Amino acid sequence: MEHNGNYKNEFGWFADKPKVPRKLFHAKAVVGGLLIFLVLVTAPLWRNLGKVVPAPDPKLNTQAILALPEKDRVCVEDTAFMKANHMRLLVDWRDEVVRNGNRDYINSKGKRHLASLSNNCMECHSNKSQFCDQCHNYVAVAPNCWGCHWEKEKKQVAQTEAK
Ligand code: HEC
Ligand code: HEC
Ligand code: HEC
Repeated sequence: MEHNGNYKNEFGWFADKPKVPRKLFHAKAVVGGLLIFLVLVTAPLWRNLGKVVPAPDPKLNTQAILALPEKDRVCVEDTAFMKANHMRLLVDWRDEVVRNGNRDYINSKGKRHLASLSNNCMECHSNKSQFCDQCHNYVAVAPNCWGCHWEKEKKQVAQTEAK
């Protein structure tokens, strides 16, 4: 077969592949554009660079807790359980009180507790901003209980509702 080029494939010989210069056209604009793009896309990350959110530091030094004898300085349930499940415990308490009229909570050690957010949890943990809020701010949860269950007033809960 006649050779009219130096490039061969299954159809025969062809002319040499054209030599295209390896060149980035409009290099300035392209590179500049990419840089601007990178800066803009990562800008939100830069603002937080080097910032450290302080770890929550819930304080247990309320008068009610300090007044307890050392061996009784425990929560309603053990600490690991409370850490993981206090929100569920509260909802269980609420359901028991509101639906079944049962204000007694017998904990896993057989000790009786008053099932009440304001009149039990907040008795011991009266330092809401130093305790509950510490963790909740850190994980950005905002339990909306406080409008009704005011944390300091030790009266019947939910006064607004009771009217
Ligand atoms: C709109 C008002 C309102 C909000 C908001 C609210 N509650 Fe209540 N809650 C009530 C009322 C009313 C009762 C019944 C009060 C009673 O019978 O003592 C109650 C009862 C309870 C009880 C049992 C009784 C007691 O003394 O605590 C618990 C526990 C409870 N709620 C937990 C919560 C939690 C946890 C939240 C937030 C996630 C919350 N509630 C938000 C109105 C509210
Ligand atoms: C008798 C006082 C008392 C009552 C009532 C009480 N607590 Fe506690 N709570 C404590 C003490 C003391 C600790 C710390 C125990 C320890 O040193 O491990 C604690 C620990 C906790 C912790 C874990 C804190 C941490 O640093 O990990 C949570 C969460 C908690 N309580 C929530 C509650 C909630 C919610 C209620 C109501 C359902 C409640 N507590 C009722 C005394 C109490
Ligand atoms: C050791 C840290 C810690 C402490 C102390 C703590 N909480 Fe929490 N709480 C959490 C975390 C974490 C969540 C969110 C869990 C999730 O998103 O599932 C939460 C969620 C809740 C919720 C459910 C909120 C929702 O929107 O579902 C309630 C109610 C609540 N906490 C009540 C309390 C009360 C009342 C106290 C103080 C007596 C308290 N917590 C103290 C860590 C803590």
